[in-house]
Amino acid sequence: MSEYSPENIKYAKGVVKYFNRLLALIGVLIIFIIIQLVNPGLLKPQSKGELTQLTEEVDAENLIENGIHVSSGLIVDEGYELVLNTCSGCHSLKLVTQNKGNKADWKEVIVWMQETQKLWDLGSTEGPIIAYLAKNYGQSKKGRRMNLENIEWYELE
Ligand code: HEC
Repeated sequence: MSEYSPENIKYAKGVVKYFNRLLALIGVLIIFIIIQLVNPGLLKPQSKGELTQLTEEVDAENLIENGIHVSSGLIVDEGYELVLNTCSGCHSLKLVTQNKGNKADWKEVIVWMQETQKLWDLGSTEGPIIAYLAKNYGQSKKGRRMNLENIEWYELE
């Protein structure tokens, strides 16, 4: 029987095929291991408890009672989400809800923060934000705003 007999060629082809499958399998295994190393949570189904907890956290964040967005204290009205997103980055929104002013007063506060506190240009959101603030936190009858209490201050870089 010669080296290149049909039987030997068939046998060799079989070995190559088997070897290729083995390589593919090892490849898949390596990818799996890399995913596990980089992000162990990715392939693990989230437990029901975790999901419930997440949902509860989101619910608590979005809770609205008697027209007040509970976690921020903001009055729910047109534009409150803009204020929520724009004004909560550097300080507590208590600073907002405990202040009063007309449009000009609020504009002044914003300009002051832009000039001294690194507040960015609010662009097209400035109008709706000021409108919301003046409408819901407008001039009070009292001459002076209440003293601020229990404010959480954040470190600014
Ligand atoms: C880039 C950070 C930053 C952002 C964003 C920001 N502020 Fe401020 N703001 C400050 C700092 C810092 C102070 C407090 C400075 C101090 O009195 O020490 C302040 C103070 C205030 C005060 C109190 C001013 C006073 O006279 O006591 C009000 C009211 C206020 N911010 C409203 C807002 C509103 C409304 C927004 C959203 C449009 C906003 N802030 C977004 C930095 C920021």
